[in-house]
Parts: sequence; structure tokens; C-alpha cells
Amino acid sequence: MSKTLVAYFSASGVTARAAKEIAQAVDADLYEIRPAEPYTDADLNWMDKKSRSTREMNDPACRPAIAEPAEHMEQYDTVFVGFPIWWAVEPRVVDTFLESCDFSGKTLIPFATSGGSGIGRAEKSLEEHCPKGNWKRGRLVNSGAAAWAKSVLGR
Ligand SMILES: Cc1cc2nc3c(=O)[nH]c(=O)nc-3n(C[C@H](O)[C@H](O)[C@H](O)COP(=O)(O)O)c2cc1C
Repeated sequence: MSKTLVAYFSASGVTARAAKEIAQAVDADLYEIRPAEPYTDADLNWMDKKSRSTREMNDPACRPAIAEPAEHMEQYDTVFVGFPIWWAVEPRVVDTFLESCDFSGKTLIPFATSGGSGIGRAEKSLEEHCPKGNWKRGRLVNSGAAAWAKSVLGR
């Protein structure tokens, strides 16, 4: 059977929970996109124009470094890519991940959690950052992650 990976970034644990539910539901491996420099509470303050997250999201070229690279990507043909919505799109560290691996011919399935924003703008941005992947429609998974992931894979 083909192998599936659930790759995710989570700053405060919400997306991590969904990622673990998905990995268990579809029997996938799990990889955390862990920033080399973890985000502090102050970094995540979106009300602060000078906070790290605000500065990163205001700079489309910003690519925060990843602590541990994903290994043996060649064994996966399907990769779920999960993240919290930041300023309506994916956090820049997710772009670091997408640009650091060769996703040619792989099926990529985005999922996200948010405080209310949809995933549409992020889907467009992900495709722009990784045009070689075969992107499927994604979903917000603030709830229902496991059932959705199974249905996407036809299980
Ligand atoms: C810097 C920052 C920007 C955010 N921007 C948005 C946003 O544009 N729309 C939204 O609905 N939620 C936004 N949120 C809320 C997160 O998407 C939401 O809390 C998410 O579930 C957090 O997931 P995590 O615990 O995996 O990090 C933002 C949170 C942070 C820290």
C-alpha cells in the first residue's frame, strides 16, 4: 500500500491535535515542521506590528529555518500539509518546508485550523509556492479531521 505522511506546523497545539487525529485515522506517519527558533507568546502576538510573526508575514520572502528536515520523503506519495491560518494564509515556515523538498508527482492535501478564516487563500498560496505538487482541495479541521481525512483517501 502507498505510504502517507502528515506534515504539520503548530504554534499552540490546535493543529497538532488535528494532525495526530488524521495520522491515526489514515495510518500515516507524522512529521512536525518545527521552527529552529520556537515561537514565544510575544512572537505570536498579532496585535503587535513589530512581533516576529507580524514581521514574518509582512515579508513574503521570509523563510524561517526548520529544526529537523523531513527524512525519506521519497517513500511517500501522499502528504497532508497542516498549519494554523496566519493572516489568512499559511505561516512562512510552511513555505520553507514546501520549498525544501521535491514534491513532483506527489499528492498534497492541505488542512488548517483558524479562528474563523477560511482556507481558500492559503490553498492558492500553497500552490504558488509548490507548483509541482498535485494539490487536492483542503479543509479547515477545527473539528471533524479524522472523518474528513478518511473520506479524502476514499477509506
Ligand atoms: C500570528 C497569528 C495570526 C493569525 N491569523 C489568523 C487569521 O488571519 N485568521 C484566523 O481565523 N485566525 C488567525 N489566527 C488564529 C489561529 O489560526 C488559530 O488560533 C489556530 O487554530 C492556531 O493553531 P495552532 O495552535 O496549531 O498554532 C492567527 C494566529 C496567530 C498566532
